[in-house]
Amino acid sequence: MSHRIASIPGDGIGVDVTVEARKVLDAAAARYGFSLEWEEFDWSCERYAETGAMMPEDGVEQLSGFDAILLGAVGFPGVPDHVSLWGLLIPLRRAFQQYVNLRPVRLLPGTTSALAGRTADELEMVIVRENSEGEYSAIGGRHNAGRPDEFVLQESVFTRVGVERIIRYAFELARTRSGHVTSATKSNGLIHSMPYWDEIFAEVGARHPDVRAEQCHVDALAARMVQAPDRIDVVVGSNLFGDILSDLAAAVTGGLGMAPSGNVNPSGEFPSMFEAVHGSAPDIAGQGIANPVAQILAGAMLLDHLGETVAAQAIRSSVDEVLAAGKVLTPDLGGTSTTTGLGTAVAETLR
Ligand code: NAD
Ligand code: IPM
Ligand code: MN
Repeated sequence: MSHRIASIPGDGIGVDVTVEARKVLDAAAARYGFSLEWEEFDWSCERYAETGAMMPEDGVEQLSGFDAILLGAVGFPGVPDHVSLWGLLIPLRRAFQQYVNLRPVRLLPGTTSALAGRTADELEMVIVRENSEGEYSAIGGRHNAGRPDEFVLQESVFTRVGVERIIRYAFELARTRSGHVTSATKSNGLIHSMPYWDEIFAEVGARHPDVRAEQCHVDALAARMVQAPDRIDVVVGSNLFGDILSDLAAAVTGGLGMAPSGNVNPSGEFPSMFEAVHGSAPDIAGQGIANPVAQILAGAMLLDHLGETVAAQAIRSSVDEVLAAGKVLTPDLGGTSTTTGLGTAVAETLR
């Protein structure tokens, strides 16, 4: 069995951690008897500087035949973030209808949560983030430019199809886990979009009577994630709220270096794309000290998605084993290892 994977290392530490994830995925393939056929794309801020575009005009077409995509990170000082991200990451998510952004976190052995004393079973959750619409919208603009009454409008778009499908996905996922789903909204402040989301959440909930459905204001949920994370399992939220909550979830389970993410096209019509939750970390880029675990775990999600579930589980176990041993840890985990050192340790454990 062979799988064709497109790799887009991107910018900053995205490049460093993607090398390590590929190393681990190749080791998993060799051990579990399948092969990965990689093709690499240099789409990045560097490419933007040279050509004026993050990716070629037919970029979506070029990727469409792959079985999956492994993405590093996009964005680097020198190119405005809204230009780089709307030139690569966001259009890919939309073109491939990757409307689910799945962001699971758990406290890994040998690592310390910001919430000292919490154990692994109290700190395992998954953010199901709406990934194709909502607050991430190009609709709006600047009015009365240069005048004292200048203002900007930034519209949000919530469609019935878009809201319903992500909520349904979360309910169905909850069925396979704790049977509990929490919806994050802000219906006290945003009077159109969020009550609409709540309404659809209640409708879908009525069709899933076996799942305990809870609606929570996102601000209160943020506090709960720190104070009582054991009361949270599956969280479903809009594009923006899911984004913010997933960095918070990463932080309470050991940091941004640990949290993977899947941009999933559930129908399978288009390739899904896997990446870490974190970005290109310009502050540590080029130093060889980024933690590659998030990207390696994103690679495990990629293999799960392709049906290579035994290999995916073996990767997670190898990560656990290396972290639990506590000998090879990057600086964010309190160690002195390099990115390559940790990636190699996981790959070797796997072999
Ligand atoms: P960031 O996630 O890149 O960094 C936040 C902090 O976490 C930094 O201090 C960084 O050093 C640390 N960190 C992140 N990943 C780490 C790792 N693997 N190991 C150790 N430390 C790690 O967020 P930011 O600074 O807000 O964004 C930087 C750039 O990345 C921006 O251009 C942003 O738009 C972009 N970004 C891209 C993606 C993506 O491509 N999916 C995601 C987030 C941010
Ligand atoms: C993420 C990132 C992106 C997002 C940015 C860089 C546009 O923060 O993948 O979490 O908000 O989707
Ligand atoms: Mn984010």
